Amino acid sequence: MSKDLVNVVGLGYIGLPTAMMMASHGVPVIGTDYKKELVESLQAGHLTFQEKGLKELFAQAKASGIQFTGEYSDQANIYIVSVPTPYDKKSKRIDPHYVVSAVKQVLDVCRKGAIVVVESTISPGTIDRFVRPLVAEHGLKVGEDVHLVHAPERIIPGNMVYELLHNSRTIGADDPAVGERVKAVYASFCQGDIEVTDIRTAEMTKVVENTYRDINIAYANELLKICRSDGMDVHEIIRIANKHPRVNILSPGPGVGGHCISVDSWFLVGDYPELAHLIRQARLINDSMPDFVLERTEQIMEENGITDFDRVGFYGLTYKENVDDVRESPTLQLIESMKRHLAPSPKCYDPMVKKQITPRQYQDFQAFVQDIDLMVVMICHDHLKECCGDVTGKVILDTRNCGKIWPAGNTVYSL
Ligand SMILES: NC(=O)c1ccc[n+]([C@@H]2O[C@H](COP(=O)([O-])OP(=O)(O)OC[C@H]3O[C@@H](n4cnc5c(N)ncnc54)[C@H](O)[C@@H]3O)[C@@H](O)[C@H]2O)c1
Repeated sequence: MSKDLVNVVGLGYIGLPTAMMMASHGVPVIGTDYKKELVESLQAGHLTFQEKGLKELFAQAKASGIQFTGEYSDQANIYIVSVPTPYDKKSKRIDPHYVVSAVKQVLDVCRKGAIVVVESTISPGTIDRFVRPLVAEHGLKVGEDVHLVHAPERIIPGNMVYELLHNSRTIGADDPAVGERVKAVYASFCQGDIEVTDIRTAEMTKVVENTYRDINIAYANELLKICRSDGMDVHEIIRIANKHPRVNILSPGPGVGGHCISVDSWFLVGDYPELAHLIRQARLINDSMPDFVLERTEQIMEENGITDFDRVGFYGLTYKENVDDVRESPTLQLIESMKRHLAPSPKCYDPMVKKQITPRQYQDFQAFVQDIDLMVVMICHDHLKECCGDVTGKVILDTRNCGKIWPAGNTVYSL
């Protein structure tokens, strides 16, 4: 087993479970984050977000001696950089500033021969354009003083622990021997195949995977709009179409959020604007869905004689069911769109989000339900399936096609 000391830089949704998974499988790990509060919370034994199986993993990692700090280790053999990679809203290209600054901090302290693994999702060419030059700026040589690797992550929030253990992975390295060394660290816990390839292929592969998902979701969303415009039931049509042995249409919904699918396809649009037509269109379709939900809400209000938007409430602030991550979520996109039209923020409720992130966010489900006539379901958390019995005499716009969960006496619409 690899006994390389690993310094994981960036302890967010990806870096933290990765660090803990490695530690709990016998790899010596130091976790670094520049957010003081986050580090203090972890040092005090408190997790910083909710995720199935994470508490147990945390306990194992602590027992195995994982350390959390604000400092970058000068003793590590391998650094795993897992910091955000947003896109520039104007150019649509990757905004690499988090990666650049984290790698610079690593290069300031690392020992000769250290391996710097960028685990963040990056557009093809990012290591060549933004990371490689940093090594030269530090007076160091790639391949001698420092080795560069890209090892993107594929896990899905809500099932991270299982997927860390079982997903296959890609490792891109200049030097296959270095790739194999990094592979040994991931292989300490990963039961899936680990492909070792070159850096550019690894960069492109990860972006292509998320773009594939985005395009397929956009297809379902466009079908939804077509069917809605002409009185057809998109869900029934997809159900039947999917009986075809080579058809697997995804579920339409209120939009795409999160730090991955709604971001990474833009990288290709930004870098290849003359070529990425389908990809751009898919992004635009998915981004149009929150406004489509608003239009449909207004239609349903009119049909039911609901004249005051104050009697409408949105259930779900996260971008995905049973997680607490609200980044780029369709509900937040919808609230932003309302803001642009100078409309007041709508009533919202999400059992997974305890922090107040919108002005009229309820913390009590019963109070939320009592204060509205029309509930727009943006996410089907397990909580909703458990508590939908408390919803009676309401109009419901179920954008997620939650199924037959609603008690009689409600008027239920689909998107
Ligand atoms: N969240 C997902 O579902 C997911 C899935 C696969 C891949 N990814 C990719 O993984 C990467 C990380 O995403 P995330 O969701 O974990 O982000 P995150 O925002 O949850 O976490 C990033 C962490 O990095 C820290 N950080 C930033 N710069 C730093 C620096 N210079 N030094 C130390 N710490 C620093 C931040 O404080 C934060 O805690 C992104 O590239 C993302 O696209 C995310």
